[in-house]
Amino acid sequence: MRTRRVAWGAMIFTVAIDGPAAAGKGTISRAVADRFGFRHLDTGLLYRAVGVKGGDPATAARTLLPEDLTGTDLRTLAAGQAASQVAVIPEVRAALTEFQRRFARAEGGAVLDGRDIGTVICPEAEVKIYVTASPEVRAHRRWLEVGGEEAQVLHEVKDRDARDMGRADAPLRPAPDAVLLDTSTMTITEAVGRACALVEAALSARKRAGGHG
Ligand code: CDP
Repeated sequence: MRTRRVAWGAMIFTVAIDGPAAAGKGTISRAVADRFGFRHLDTGLLYRAVGVKGGDPATAARTLLPEDLTGTDLRTLAAGQAASQVAVIPEVRAALTEFQRRFARAEGGAVLDGRDIGTVICPEAEVKIYVTASPEVRAHRRWLEVGGEEAQVLHEVKDRDARDMGRADAPLRPAPDAVLLDTSTMTITEAVGRACALVEAALSARKRAGGHG
């Protein structure tokens, strides 16, 4: 896709992309960030890094370093499960909140993908998208990435959904003003196109209103 580097300058503009495991958030977020020249933060990586670090999770979250986010083991199913287990701990979430908020509202535009970006981290986000797909479709996509037994991958996806949606602190759910994007039967090009159109529309509306952040 064509990259459009625009001099957004002092503009503050946040795109919040939330949704369950393997719905396509990461791919869509990277493509949107690339297209509009925005910064991108995969917030799941923060929780994965805390999950695999070991020791006391709250301490791990408070002392997280940039190099903790580069581990090659962060993308495994086990790291995903560990992430969703530490993600229910309010002290862990609190320790990671400030960094995410600052990233979201720094000048130049930002895309954040996660579970609670539109609801808790940045309720004022200019664009909110809730990306979803059926558990079977999501498990199939994740299985293509990680291999193993597809039935086991489906079990892990459902287990993580239940934990993420059922927790008391910042549960996974669409923000009331989020646009739902069900990617079950969409190609990635189609899903990215829809997301980019939503961002384009919000940028045009802001331009018409004469605001630039
Ligand atoms: O890539 P995938 O969608 O499978 O997962 P991820 O975005 O890397 O997130 C891993 C886990 O971290 C999730 O299952 C959540 O439990 C947790 N998480 C969260 O609680 N809040 C976020 N903003 C991002 C991730």
